[in-house]
Amino acid sequence: MSHTQCPPQVLNEVVRRIQAVSGLAVEGGGFRKSLEQTLARHIKAHGTDAPEYLSRLLRDDAQLARLIEDLTIGETYFFRHPGQFRLLAHEILPELLGRRQHLRLWSSACATGEEPYTLALTVCRFLPPAERSRVSILGTDLNPAFLQHARAGVYGRRAVRFVPPEDLQRFFAVRDGRYLLDDEVKRLVTFQRINLHDPASYPQETTGAHQCDVILCRNVLIYFDGASARGVIERLAQALRPDGVLVLGPSEHSFERPGTLRRCQLKEGIVYRRVKEGEKIIPMLREARPAHKPSRRPAVVAKVIELPRPIGEELARDAWVHAERERFQEAIETAGRALAVDPLDPSLHLLMGVLSDRSGNRLEAAEWFRKALYLDPRHLLSRFYLANAYRGLGERVAAEREFTAVLRYLKDRPVEELIEDEQRMTAGALRQVCEKAIGRLKEPVMGSST
Ligand SMILES: C[S@@+](CC[C@H](N)C(=O)[O-])C[C@H]1O[C@@H](n2cnc3c(N)ncnc32)[C@H](O)[C@@H]1O
Repeated sequence: MSHTQCPPQVLNEVVRRIQAVSGLAVEGGGFRKSLEQTLARHIKAHGTDAPEYLSRLLRDDAQLARLIEDLTIGETYFFRHPGQFRLLAHEILPELLGRRQHLRLWSSACATGEEPYTLALTVCRFLPPAERSRVSILGTDLNPAFLQHARAGVYGRRAVRFVPPEDLQRFFAVRDGRYLLDDEVKRLVTFQRINLHDPASYPQETTGAHQCDVILCRNVLIYFDGASARGVIERLAQALRPDGVLVLGPSEHSFERPGTLRRCQLKEGIVYRRVKEGEKIIPMLREARPAHKPSRRPAVVAKVIELPRPIGEELARDAWVHAERERFQEAIETAGRALAVDPLDPSLHLLMGVLSDRSGNRLEAAEWFRKALYLDPRHLLSRFYLANAYRGLGERVAAEREFTAVLRYLKDRPVEELIEDEQRMTAGALRQVCEKAIGRLKEPVMGSST
């Protein structure tokens, strides 16, 4: 959407409302470009013009909510920041289970569910089945479409690539290249919509977002302005039990915290523990243990857990972030380093293809997409991008063949299901795009006699 299409003060008012409703800082959070693209899509879908759509947006809260949901970034995967899960598995959960009969864990911006399910997998690994009712896990997010995906518990290869192989085998069924999480794990987690920016939503007994033992709030405050992030941390602290632990994302330690949260530097990272004013900190959570000192575990721990070490995943994530922020050179360099670590990840080949395409090299892009498909023939987005690349290269027959193949793979997918690797597009929307593209490919080419 170009700025000339609508008065800047109206657009600024939309930005202000988005921030007031969700806490998302359009300017500071790097959303400006994404906002303009999303607005352009919504305006087109409504068949209206920018001024009319924007003034409707300011009158209609439901419309604004839909726009905000489309702006949310749901990048996540199982065992993201694995050091934090090692910390939970080796230190925090055994310590808390040793002192309490029942634990309440809350993943407070859970996107499509990988984070609370990683908590559940961690619990399943060290609590025998008869003991698992001692833990309940709540997953919440602003975006209902993400939550729907989370409840289904069906994931693509990229989401599960850091799940330890034995867990993958034990707790997932594989069907048509999709990973279906077992009910045994799913039933430990319940999902709810909670807006972290809404003070009325939590702490709240009715939602379960209160008296928590552990709260994860990772990779969401980076999108908030300082004041909103501070408000969220304050309310999360109130939602913790005394001794409860707050885990933030690795880049979210700079926000101001209330006095009831004490910073604890542990071997695998920093967490915050809720204390009453004047209370002493439990030594275990005050500092890292020396590596050689074995930790004391309560009897409930059935098995020592070895969680995966970060190998190339942070590089891969950084590459996607650079690409999203249009820092293409950095994205190519970082993706290249990630590929050196994980040369079999089709998503990285897809990313390289997207970056080649953006740099104007469509032939090279097609080559990357083909490599991704060689590694995983069901990698839907790579096939979709390959179809587009062929179309751009004028190879109509090949383009139609690939779009048709995407439609074939989509045939049995529910319309509302989100496409893996592309958190913003549903199966239904991708189907429509492919059908339209095939329709256009069938139209006669200007100047052609056939
Ligand atoms: C990048 S994902 C992080 C997912 C997961 N915590 C992780 O670290 O892998 C950020 C999530 O925050 C959610 N979010 C953004 N604003 C929110 C708000 N005001 N309340 C609740 N969730 C929000 C988004 O919908 C998105 O799912």
